[in-house]
Amino acid sequence: MFSELVKKNRSKRIYNGSDVSFSLLKELIEDCRFSASTINRQDIRYILINNEQICSDIFNITNLPSTHKVDIKNKPGAFVVMIVERNINLPDTFLYYNIGLATANLTLSATSKGYNCVTLLSTNLEKLAHIISLGKDKKIVTVIAVGKSDQVVITEDVSGGDVSYYKKDGNIHVVPKLTTEALISQEI
Ligand SMILES: Cc1cc2nc3c(=O)[nH]c(=O)nc-3n(C[C@H](O)[C@H](O)[C@H](O)COP(=O)(O)O)c2cc1C
Repeated sequence: MFSELVKKNRSKRIYNGSDVSFSLLKELIEDCRFSASTINRQDIRYILINNEQICSDIFNITNLPSTHKVDIKNKPGAFVVMIVERNINLPDTFLYYNIGLATANLTLSATSKGYNCVTLLSTNLEKLAHIISLGKDKKIVTVIAVGKSDQVVITEDVSGGDVSYYKKDGNIHVVPKLTTEALISQEI
């Protein structure tokens, strides 16, 4: 069951216009709150956004319309922005480990509920802070799109070589994943 969920949890970039309610977003945070964190500090806070205009403004500064040519009508129904205190007293190695764990739990939770996500860290986080009027004492550490997607995304097993994602048969998004054998570097 868990293995199926992990396989299903693919990044989706083209959304179908469905709304994403605050109650759904809160259910995702309910799963995030049990994430492990460095000495259980729980530094991450979550900004939930499903306002249509703000979602459009955020979509426009992600690389979805530019790099991925996603039309505005296919923007995600919501964004979750993770923030921390600007003067957080924690090395980045620990902080980003914690963010990764929270991100995994959030996206797995969304997938289990029939929603889809993509982490959008190429976004200009300064512009994003301006859009959401973030206080100067806080900093954005990641932004995750949430919505419903009909985009077909599949994985393929590869043992090495080029792992760049690509399109096949028109619109199928293919994500090459290294096999278990290729990932294990040693058995001691
Ligand atoms: C830290 C991080 C940042 C990412 N930033 C972006 C991004 O800015 N834009 C984007 O389209 N995808 C982004 N992605 C999604 C990756 O491209 C995606 O995870 C990768 O292609 C593998 O696909 P999968 O998530 O379906 O396994 C990001 C993923 C991670 C983990």
